Amino acid sequence: MEDVGPRSGKSRVRRAVTADLDSILDIEEGSFPSPWNRDYFQAALKDLFLVFEAESVQGFLVACAYQAAKKALILKVAVHPEHRGKGIASELLRTAVELLKTENLEEVELDVDVFKSGAMRLYERFGFRVVTCVSTDPEENDAFCVMKRRL
Ligand SMILES: CC(C)(COP(=O)(O)OP(=O)(O)OC[C@H]1O[C@@H](n2cnc3c(N)ncnc32)[C@H](O)[C@@H]1OP(=O)(O)O)[C@@H](O)C(=O)NCCC(=O)NCCS
Repeated sequence: MEDVGPRSGKSRVRRAVTADLDSILDIEEGSFPSPWNRDYFQAALKDLFLVFEAESVQGFLVACAYQAAKKALILKVAVHPEHRGKGIASELLRTAVELLKTENLEEVELDVDVFKSGAMRLYERFGFRVVTCVSTDPEENDAFCVMKRRL
């Protein structure tokens, strides 16, 4: 299977395939309160869908490109709870940005919940900047921010 990112030791970043979906669903369910189902991930296999694999699949990233708008959206980044804090999301983001740079796009965008300050710091390290924040539930102080970077 094609590697698309740097290989270090026994780990690699590669494109996701159908056989990865069980591991991906397991990570998804441990990461998000409203997880995507298998059909969503199956459909995402035609997009930019990367996995980080060491002994097993430990993290993934889903992005899609809109050529007409010259932009890409990062839809999801998640790492298995047992493997967080080891640079896996950083590796996935680095690879995704490098691949997107080859696609003649101008910018890449993502949404992040305001309470996820750790994730926001991670994206800032990759050059993403908050462009706007949208309140989803003022009573609960719930909001998400749109972050962008140029490609
Ligand atoms: C956010 C997430 C993808 C980071 O993955 P990761 O592989 O641990 O990230 P890295 O090791 O590359 O980078 C660690 C950075 O992520 C941030 N981070 C966010 N949540 C974290 C967590 N639960 N554990 C460790 N680091 C976390 C930290 O700020 C850390 O940055 P720091 O070194 O400045 O403290 C991961 O915590 C996760 O899957 N969370 C649940 C899903 C999610 O919230 N996805 C983002 C949606 S916007």
